Amino acid sequence: MDYGAALVSLVYKPLARECVCGFLTLEEMRQQSFYLGALVGRVANRIDQGRFSLNGTTYQLPINNGPHHLHGGPQGFNQAYYEVFQEADGLIYRHVSPHLDQGYPGKLSLEVHYHLDGPSLVIDLKAVSDQDTLCDPTLHTYFNLNPSHKDRIQNHQLTLPCQIFYGLSESGCTENKRLPSAEIMASNPSKIDIILKGDHPQLKLAKGIDHYFLKTEVDKPLVARLSVSDLILSVESTHPGAHIYSGNYLESSKILHADFLQENGGICFETHHVPNSINFDPSLAPILKANASQTSQTVYRFERVQP
Ligand code: GAL
Repeated sequence: MDYGAALVSLVYKPLARECVCGFLTLEEMRQQSFYLGALVGRVANRIDQGRFSLNGTTYQLPINNGPHHLHGGPQGFNQAYYEVFQEADGLIYRHVSPHLDQGYPGKLSLEVHYHLDGPSLVIDLKAVSDQDTLCDPTLHTYFNLNPSHKDRIQNHQLTLPCQIFYGLSESGCTENKRLPSAEIMASNPSKIDIILKGDHPQLKLAKGIDHYFLKTEVDKPLVARLSVSDLILSVESTHPGAHIYSGNYLESSKILHADFLQENGGICFETHHVPNSINFDPSLAPILKANASQTSQTVYRFERVQP
């Protein structure tokens, strides 16, 4: 969809299986507040109190989530209307964000390229800014691999090639607290139900998984694997990891109707840099230098499990 460059539907044809949560009408996509399928940015996830410093200047971004700045602010990239160009095997979306849009320095041009490659959807992002800035967009796709989205993701198996995840502060922002993933994964793979029932304080704090997982082997693309009995989704990325969110705040609404609008109705793999790292380890932060281009690739690869 040109609104939010959103991925509203992704059908795995061999099983005629809708694998993502989204709405097919613009009206519904505009009314939802869950970032369903949208390209979020400029910077995905939270920035502590919306404040960061770059080249000696401190920037105050708008606050839109408790005390924090979330997913690029109240008018982030998820609400932009992109220019769309069709290609033989995909679509290209372009958006230009003016200098100081949502408080961020630099005029920034973003290109989102979706294309199909056999059983994979490949998403290439490219950004260029005319000033040094922060840039860390991602696709906020909620997956649910069950034949019916009335069924939550609890029965899915999750494999994470990640030994470390980052803890959250009391107010829900990623902080410089590296914790062993084994503390929340009962086994690897783990059934999501078992993880969510865990009593780790970080799971209690976030009502489930809402944490950044760092790849153990940075050179390998796999970030996470999600499976049900007949289908496997592998999420691969050039990023160092992914923020994994088990749909803890998805809920029913008076105006919108969809089976997945319930707690844990879907799970997101938000591939980007370590959230809020500009405030605790700038060497990990998504700093985009003036006139340099930033590129990243994320792949959603499907594989059928033969009965
Ligand atoms: C996720 C974030 C969650 C929540 C959600 C939107 O990316 O990690 O905490 O804000 O977006 O409802």
